[in-house]
Amino acid sequence: IIEKKVDSVLSLMTLKEKIGQMVQYNGGWDLTGPPSKMSDKEKVEKLKNGLVGSMLNVVSVKATREAQKLVMDNSRLKIPLIFGYDVIHGYKTIFPIPLGESASWDLALIKKSAAMAAKEASASGIQWTFAPMMDISRDARWGRIMEGAGEDPYLNSMIAVARVQGFQGDDLSKENTIAACAKHFAGYGLAEAGREYNTVNIGEFELNNEVLPPFKAAAEAGVATFMNSFNELDGIPATAHKGIQRDLLKGKWNWNGFIVSDWGSIGELVPHGIAKDKYQASEIAIKAGSDMDMESHAYEANLEKLVNDGKIDVALINDAVKRILKLKFELGLFDDPYKYCNEEREVREVYSAENQKFAREVAKKSIVLLKNEDQLLPLKKSIKSIAVIGPLAYDKDTPLGNWRAQGKSYSAVSLLEGVKNMVSPTTEVVYQKGCDFILNDLKPGQSLFSHPLNINKTDISKIPAAVAAAKKADVVLLAIGENAYQTGEGRSQTNIGFAGVQSQLLKAVLQVNKNVVIILMNGRPMDITWASEHVPSILECWHLGSQAGNAIADVLFGDYNPSGKLPVSFPYNVGQEPLYYNHKNTGRPYNGGKLVTYSGYRDAPNNALYPFGFGLSYTSFRYDNLKLDKSKISKEGTINLSVDVTNTGNLDGEEVIQMYIHDRVGSITRPVKELKAFKKEMFKVGETKTINFTINNKILQFYTANKKWEVEPGDFDVFIGGNSVNTLKESFEVIN
Ligand code: IFM
Repeated sequence: IIEKKVDSVLSLMTLKEKIGQMVQYNGGWDLTGPPSKMSDKEKVEKLKNGLVGSMLNVVSVKATREAQKLVMDNSRLKIPLIFGYDVIHGYKTIFPIPLGESASWDLALIKKSAAMAAKEASASGIQWTFAPMMDISRDARWGRIMEGAGEDPYLNSMIAVARVQGFQGDDLSKENTIAACAKHFAGYGLAEAGREYNTVNIGEFELNNEVLPPFKAAAEAGVATFMNSFNELDGIPATAHKGIQRDLLKGKWNWNGFIVSDWGSIGELVPHGIAKDKYQASEIAIKAGSDMDMESHAYEANLEKLVNDGKIDVALINDAVKRILKLKFELGLFDDPYKYCNEEREVREVYSAENQKFAREVAKKSIVLLKNEDQLLPLKKSIKSIAVIGPLAYDKDTPLGNWRAQGKSYSAVSLLEGVKNMVSPTTEVVYQKGCDFILNDLKPGQSLFSHPLNINKTDISKIPAAVAAAKKADVVLLAIGENAYQTGEGRSQTNIGFAGVQSQLLKAVLQVNKNVVIILMNGRPMDITWASEHVPSILECWHLGSQAGNAIADVLFGDYNPSGKLPVSFPYNVGQEPLYYNHKNTGRPYNGGKLVTYSGYRDAPNNALYPFGFGLSYTSFRYDNLKLDKSKISKEGTINLSVDVTNTGNLDGEEVIQMYIHDRVGSITRPVKELKAFKKEMFKVGETKTINFTINNKILQFYTANKKWEVEPGDFDVFIGGNSVNTLKESFEVIN
């Protein structure tokens, strides 16, 4: 039925109106890319003439209603606008940054947090989020690593699907669901040297086996839109890449949504050097499959001429417009363009008490316990004295992280507040900042894209007071790490250690009190090697969102037993980056250090300080009896696996049981380990559960030298454990 409706609208449209649907403007209120030269006044005229299909960064019922009204009251065909926005980890109630939330390995939780974000955003006039990001990111230097699910294709795929399902629900026409966007298609996370927007030079096999799986999974889950990426892929900018967009995504995968360009990425084909002007860039981009132009102002200026010059077939435009109209029908915008404009609903549903409660739940489940010597944690609520120290200890802004949508600056619960809310009235809680490491916080109204950070390199004047407080306390909670704007778009760094004088603060505090717990707040894996050697307890707290402080206190004082596992490897130092567990073996794999002629470093290990999948609990787990029901299968066969997992400690707790495989010999080289399944389970004290997995052709297949997804016969290893390193191992064979 929708198809018929789309066709009937299309048949009424002029070429100009069709091209208008392919145009997306920034609202002008907020910038998430370089500003264009077009004034707001000119944009208003275009809206009135029905020459714009979508707006981004227009938020709130009031603002979206105003913009929609311009179209509905003035344009000839009254085709409603669709409003897109970066709802990345919450709308106003802010959840942990996606990398942090991914550490929960809890798909139901992640789905629910996306659903809650959709509910808030849709109550505020938004119908479309530019999320989830599913770029495989293996390089801690890349600032946008905070925005995805880390380094693993399988984990990224599962989380991408959970997020898509959360945002979109089972019916896009419901008022509390919004369209999702699989981004950035493709390869953006593998930028050379972690430098933002940089060249990506990966081959076809890596592209297919590592980068594309989450996108395929999202397409199969019915994601409504895709966004292409800024980077080039082996010489072809993604926005111009017909191979992945038109041939693979829209062709072979038969996906029927639309592709929006990234901000200005059609125009950027000119500096990329594959188009001499925006006229040529538009021709290349539409032929490649880019349907909507976000802020390049290229399509609106050139598509009509390209048709008239005989350079492009109008069928390409019709196809793009149909895809865009289809989504507008599915969302119900044609039935009621003001469907998402309900002030009363906005007040009721945005930032509600229920959402705050859930944000705390998600945040506590995203925390990863990295180290806990002598069981320093959990702390007793009746502890006599605590020193809460550090530049992030009473920071109400940093926990919101980057890409915080409408999260109000300085609105998060700080660590200090969370601790005070938790401890008994007799506990003495002393706060000292210790140092400032970023000297210029974002001012209200200042665009985060024009906010270079000014790092304090020398001011140690606040350290003595912190040391004095530490000396008197039973335990020190030291909140250090990264400012909210050290990660995110355009935030690549070559240094992933503690900025400013934070290390000096840490060393000074540790000299007077050994009972230090580092509360690490960060958006990327950091170099915490020194800290990890010297500090008894480290809690990875990412940027946890609105309820950060309360959630951290839940874990610190044992109301919640930490269960998070790292979705990215933490290196010994930045020189190891990019670092990922699912690497290849090379022809000269690490030999234990006996000879120099192997693939390794002379001054650092090859492996991670804290590996992918790692995370401790206040209890402990034992893995026994890994059993396979057969040791040989055909390519279509299945193996049932079981493993016994026991809670051997003194507290109930959750564990993420992870299954990896290694295909020992392939027609192309295979990673040394690949995550293929996981289960998160609760174990009572002393409880043993038998956990079952199945290995089948879906798990064994890969994009082979034949350029096909297939299973190759041969020997495989299977590993099961609580992280990617400490595992039980068995083997099996696949026969022809
Ligand atoms: O959605 C984002 C994208 O991830 C990066 N460039 C700007 C877009 C819109 O804000």
